[in-house]
Amino acid sequence: MLDARRRAILDALGIDVWRLRTQGPGARSEDAVSRAADQGPGTKADESTADRVAGNSPPAAESTGVAPPPPIPSALPPEPSALSWEQLHATVRTCAACALHETRTQTVFGVGNQSARLMVIGEAPGAEEDRQGEPFVGRAGQLLNAMLAAIGFPRDQVYIANIVKCRPPGNRDPGADETAACRAYLLRQIELVAPELILAVGRVAAHSLLGTDEAVGRLRGRTHRLDPGDIPVLVTYHPAYLLRQPQEKAKSWQDLQAAWHLLREG
Ligand code: URA
Repeated sequence: MLDARRRAILDALGIDVWRLRTQGPGARSEDAVSRAADQGPGTKADESTADRVAGNSPPAAESTGVAPPPPIPSALPPEPSALSWEQLHATVRTCAACALHETRTQTVFGVGNQSARLMVIGEAPGAEEDRQGEPFVGRAGQLLNAMLAAIGFPRDQVYIANIVKCRPPGNRDPGADETAACRAYLLRQIELVAPELILAVGRVAAHSLLGTDEAVGRLRGRTHRLDPGDIPVLVTYHPAYLLRQPQEKAKSWQDLQAAWHLLREG
């Protein structure tokens, strides 16, 4: 049987799932399609069998009466860890791995210098980001831009991404299943950028990146290390929090100065 996730991915890829019609030679069961989806990409037969799975040419069994050959290809997207920027972006654009895809306007992949020394990681797109398809474009984003410019790293020189690529409805925190579903995409972005320093803004980003539930107030002020990758990570308050609690801006300013010092030494 096809499970719900595999069905969702096949749906997202626009591939029709065949249903069992008859038993015996020539019948192609759901299990066969399911196994096809389990095989993994990269074989030469991918295209032709994908065509068959998509119904573009008849299965051999229908014309010969002989049982079809073992299915080879995969309709599943490849592992994010092997993808180029373009492939990763295309995979994220059609991602249906968690429920957030049902309510998003569009995915919000990330933006900026793909060879940046500094990578900023936030929580999740808000309403404005969901509309524009770019992270940190609302009021919090304007504050973030100003803070970055103040340490000599204007927005277009850094790379900005979020823990999850789709807006959680009502701006709620992303759930553990949602951050887990997006994790491989973010790790591949980090791997591709290979920044000297990551600035985690806000509780959700810090907790997800560092695998802790300590308060931001306790996480800031020291250098953490990303696992995997061993990249230095600094934590600071989320700019949306600073808009609500402007008295905390001085602490964030200290955090950005610490970032500047680490990058100057690097
Ligand atoms: N808050 C975030 O964490 N990320 C955005 O992209 C916008 C607001």
